[in-house]
Amino acid sequence: MALNLKRPNGTEDITPANIHKWYTVEQVARSVAQSYGFREIRIPTFENTELFQRSVGETTDVVQKEMYTVMAKETKFTLRPEGTAGTIRAMLQNGLLNEALPQKVFYLLSCFRHERPQAGRLREFHQFGLEMAGSAEPVADAEVISLAKAVLDTLGLKGIQLYINSIGCPTCRAEYHKALRAYFEARKDQLCDTCLSRLEKNPMRILDCKSPICGELGKDAPVILDYLCEDCKTHFEKLQGYLKAMDIDFSINPKIVRGLDYYTKTVFEFVTTDIGAQGTVCGGGRYDGLIEELGGQHQPALGFAMGIERLLLTMESQGCDFLEPNHCDLYIATMDPEGVSRAMQYANLLRQEGFWVEYDLLGRSFKSQMKYADKIGTSYLLVLGENELTTGNANLKNMKTGEQTPLLLDDSFVDSFTNVAMYGMFDGVMDEISF
Ligand code: HAM
Repeated sequence: MALNLKRPNGTEDITPANIHKWYTVEQVARSVAQSYGFREIRIPTFENTELFQRSVGETTDVVQKEMYTVMAKETKFTLRPEGTAGTIRAMLQNGLLNEALPQKVFYLLSCFRHERPQAGRLREFHQFGLEMAGSAEPVADAEVISLAKAVLDTLGLKGIQLYINSIGCPTCRAEYHKALRAYFEARKDQLCDTCLSRLEKNPMRILDCKSPICGELGKDAPVILDYLCEDCKTHFEKLQGYLKAMDIDFSINPKIVRGLDYYTKTVFEFVTTDIGAQGTVCGGGRYDGLIEELGGQHQPALGFAMGIERLLLTMESQGCDFLEPNHCDLYIATMDPEGVSRAMQYANLLRQEGFWVEYDLLGRSFKSQMKYADKIGTSYLLVLGENELTTGNANLKNMKTGEQTPLLLDDSFVDSFTNVAMYGMFDGVMDEISF
């Protein structure tokens, strides 16, 4: 049988030509999260399978159909399908919840779900997400939503709709489940097999089923907003008040139930219409019972995650700006071994200053070195030929303008290059100083 050496379906390579786009999202996400006081956390790529069964929920699509699980030496491990469960596990295991509350952490990580791949839906995808533990107050919900919006705004994204809903607490949900069960019981013969089994255990999951028939049936089902208890209702109203106070536009969508079982009260999604069916770029909400469920003291919590691939697709479709790709600052062309030795010395000195410097590593002719320097788009070119080495005088060529600046090949070399590269010419330095 022929070897299959292609990347698996639903995975992507992020090549050097595109990495600046990822840096753009990662840099914005990090700096906005840090400005709200969130600290970065890094967690394992896989966890004990029970962690996800317990938190994401036994009756969810994620646990029932999409997890990558391996049996290794009699223990079942699962590649994380999302970041919340592992993050809360890590917060508990490292005692973060004994520190000052609220605890606020963010993460950038890869997730794995065995879904049917399509535009914006991958089997390995990446999330920027965050979790805040310790506050039950609606002001925390508003803060987290405003952070998500700040990330989207800073990336330059436009027209992303915010939808919010409340899915109540265990108290109000008991009544709601009764109504929902009665509704679907009457339409039971049309439900898919998975949803039939969900009818008893967790009828809300039917509202999230990807089968078109169950989706259609769910359209006229009772909505949770009509069943909220006083506490949940007040919480939801206060959240809306805060969002209005911050001028954050939103619509209430009573159909949002989210695909993970741990949510309580507030749930929300930011959705774009620019990238097709998989337009939810961010999803999140409150999960006041999860920490206790995972063995901690009761502690309310909430968070969200954004799909980085979906953010990038939307940014590309909207023509948003990305950080400039890195490029070579200086190429040093050489003609003989003496030139190579000097090039190595200068390159190392300049690299310590943070410049990207290259010289020939292939024993190429001078002409081919020029071609290579051109291909990598170097900003400056320095030729170290016999003449330059003997006289100690060289010329630095600005490859964009063609302008040549004389440089002495002595102890002043690094400073002189730095000045030219940063200010364009020596006069620029004088301007800076006199200014
Ligand atoms: P989620 O809605 O399952 O929530 O995923 C969050 C985001 O990840 C989605 O809005 C989407 O942008 C992206 N995403 C999900 N699945 C895929 C996929 N197959 N391919 C590409 N992108 C995808 C969570 O994961 C929760 N842990 C969020 C959260 C954090 N809630 C509270 N804290």
